[in-house]
Amino acid sequence: MNILMVASECFPFVKVGGLADVVGTLPKYLKKLGHNIKIILPKYRHIDGKKYNLQTLPFRLNVQVGKSAESFRVKYCTTEDRIEVYFIENMHFFNRDGIYSSSTGLDYVDNKERYIFFCRAVLESIKALMFRPDVIHCHDWQTGLIPAYLKTNLKNDGFFWNTSCAFTIHNIAYQGQFSAETVVEAGFSWSDFTPEKLEYYNNINFMKCAIAMADAVSTVSPTYAKEIKEFNGRGMEVVLNSRYDEVYGILNGIDYSYWDPFTDKTIAANYDKNNLNGKKLCKRDLQKLCGFKVNDSTYMFGCVSRLDNQKGFDIIVDALYSLKNYDMQFVILGSGDDTIKNRLKEAALSMPKKVAVFFDYNEKLAHKIYAGCDSYMMPSKFEPCGLSQMIALAYGTIPIVNRTGGLSDTIVYYNHFTKEGNGFVFNITYGENFVQTVLKSQKIFNDKQNWHTLMLNALNSNFSWDRSVLKYEKMYNDLTINKLKETIFVRS
Ligand code: ADP
Ligand code: GLC
Repeated sequence: MNILMVASECFPFVKVGGLADVVGTLPKYLKKLGHNIKIILPKYRHIDGKKYNLQTLPFRLNVQVGKSAESFRVKYCTTEDRIEVYFIENMHFFNRDGIYSSSTGLDYVDNKERYIFFCRAVLESIKALMFRPDVIHCHDWQTGLIPAYLKTNLKNDGFFWNTSCAFTIHNIAYQGQFSAETVVEAGFSWSDFTPEKLEYYNNINFMKCAIAMADAVSTVSPTYAKEIKEFNGRGMEVVLNSRYDEVYGILNGIDYSYWDPFTDKTIAANYDKNNLNGKKLCKRDLQKLCGFKVNDSTYMFGCVSRLDNQKGFDIIVDALYSLKNYDMQFVILGSGDDTIKNRLKEAALSMPKKVAVFFDYNEKLAHKIYAGCDSYMMPSKFEPCGLSQMIALAYGTIPIVNRTGGLSDTIVYYNHFTKEGNGFVFNITYGENFVQTVLKSQKIFNDKQNWHTLMLNALNSNFSWDRSVLKYEKMYNDLTINKLKETIFVRS
């Protein structure tokens, strides 16, 4: 099958969060199943043309955004896994310091135009490349107009007759909602400005367009699929429920060849479930790096995250103060919201021997934290899937999570009688408390035998893409079968 993956992030080229991990890994697994897969991304400034040996295709294309004809080039490279990755290069929209926002943290005011441009440019580029996908798989609101163009302006375009479109919701909190005039700017016709297609309470909402018009919709865990249909759809409940059985929840996986403490070159010492000594050395290395006392028996917590309210930083900051008299250390690596940064900075300044914060996007330090800590804090208010808890497990670091979304699907409370479970779970909705859960987990931490069993359970947890890729493949197969039926029906 010819599959085109379209997204605004993809590891290792550009990463803000887990979307990049998914778009960087899923294609490798689809390729292993024998599919012909290409990825298409914006060419952001920091994607280093030399490092990735980017080649430029010998044509220049144009698409209309509002009144301006935006010209662009297409660059490409082939990854080690022999996947072709294409980049849409337009200086005006993508040659900037940030991805979605400037260094001040504020979203770019023209994000609407940037991603209208991207969606149109993707569709023009594949025509120029003569690549006819059986499935275009779009991710998140930035790509949400692609299914909309296919069902409106392009519905009679023969180039796309055999093309179906799948859309994956990674986070329904970001929707891309703009005023009705966007219809004109994006080149749609007012006749398509209806509730079934483009209109959303007299606005255009890119996420809603995609949910309404993609041939299949999925999200990144079964529990989140249920939650967004029932109570946490942020206004999308009606449209999601209009196709209740067609909204799939497919759990993400992680790339175990990359997140592997046995081969990881960025950590102080390697280890695996057969020999955990290296993990102790990683902890000591991290304690030094944080300026903490080096002590094996101090209970050490980590967190590597976008600094966003979604991730429960109010809960984390309160916990730092509540737990200040316990033999614990905390290290947090994150970038994002300034208010959260300031609160974390205050906590670190007032407890320098216990709390270390790094405000950066830093891949190497992330690995050191996953490897060096005993436990991983993830009290997210909502979590579509969450990869950090899976990565922590891969390093034998025990997640402490709120029961929501993908965290519910991946973390099971450790039962010290049955020795089952891979972490600690509390439930904010039932008034359960993070600090109390941390204290309960400390009892297990102090019981070395139980903690060892728990670490082994974590290391034995398996969230590989092997299983989930088959679910995506089935989704694509169903789409192409439907398309075939549709074609036979329409043409006969
Ligand atoms: P989300 O996508 O909501 O941010 P996930 O848990 O799905 O959350 O994925 C987060 C990914 O981003 C993980 O791979 C995590 O290690 C990485 N990450 C987040 N913040 C940073 C950071 N400041 N430095 C390095 N990696 C980070
Ligand atoms: C989003 C979600 C996160 C998920 C990631 C990858 O950023 O917040 O929960 O793991 O996408 O799907």
